[in-house]
Amino acid sequence: MVTVDRLHEYADDDGNVIESPSEFREGVNVRFRGKNNRLVVHERARIVKLDLTFDGDNGTLILGAGTRDGAIRASIRVGQDSTITFGDNVTMTSTSTISAVEGTSITFGDDVMIASGNQFRADDGHAVYDVVTGGRVNKSRSITIGSHVWFAYGACALGGSVVGDGSVIGFNALVTGRIPNNVIAVGSPAKVVRRNVAWERPHLSLTQPPYRPNADGITKTKKYWKLTEEPVGPVTRAKRVVFARGNRSLVARAKRRAKRLLARKA
Ligand SMILES: CC(C)(COP(=O)(O)OP(=O)(O)OC[C@H]1O[C@@H](n2cnc3c(N)ncnc32)[C@H](O)[C@@H]1OP(=O)(O)O)[C@@H](O)C(=O)NCCC(=O)NCCS
Repeated sequence: MVTVDRLHEYADDDGNVIESPSEFREGVNVRFRGKNNRLVVHERARIVKLDLTFDGDNGTLILGAGTRDGAIRASIRVGQDSTITFGDNVTMTSTSTISAVEGTSITFGDDVMIASGNQFRADDGHAVYDVVTGGRVNKSRSITIGSHVWFAYGACALGGSVVGDGSVIGFNALVTGRIPNNVIAVGSPAKVVRRNVAWERPHLSLTQPPYRPNADGITKTKKYWKLTEEPVGPVTRAKRVVFARGNRSLVARAKRRAKRLLARKA
């Protein structure tokens, strides 16, 4: 195993590479256990802590640009043929735990705000089998988090989760499936309790004004002020098809973003 404790342009004989035009010396630990892994870091990334292990071969981690809003603080495992992508301005208040193995991906859009005590796990870490058939029960599945999503304290996402743009995942919620855009979802498993909401980053007590009873006078990030696209009412077969298409377009958008970020670095 090779350990690298700073981010800079790096390549080793096993085909592992770090593409990082800027140098990051503090809080970085990258372990390569296998071959042909790739870490791509935007020159304006903001990193407070990156504890990263590539467990297998052909893993990829992409870190987008940061802003003054915050930084990456994460403990990350990338397994065989797996990819984790962070868009621009993804921030964490304290260390998040993130794992993708068995050819899965985890994709975060832009401006995702992650609080403390959060985990994102495309895999369960250990396999569970059906005693009768021998089949695998808990297959690893990819996770897609849209842009401008707020994961509140302790909120987590398991394999198969898809969260639409602009949504809030409440305190200690556990996402296991599909959450639409611009909603509040809470509980375990997370369920939508409010639709047609938008949130803004400025902290309630660290920024002015000291009271915010409504949106009058606040700066709106307009592109994220949208109505929830999922229709309310009973979920008919036709609606399920529409939701599935929506999921596919979110996932397709995430894949295009990853490609774009990689192309930007090439
Ligand atoms: C979800 C949240 C934003 C409140 O949103 P809200 O629209 O005001 O929600 P309400 O208080 O009206 O609650 C709606 C329902 O969800 C329930 N609920 C709210 N938050 C919940 C949570 N985290 N877990 C489980 N249930 C929750 C309420 O009990 C209520 O249920 P009911 O309709 O059966 O009575 C808030 O509860 C929350 O989770 N805040 C995150 C705080 C945090 O972690 N901050 C970190 C700083 S980055």
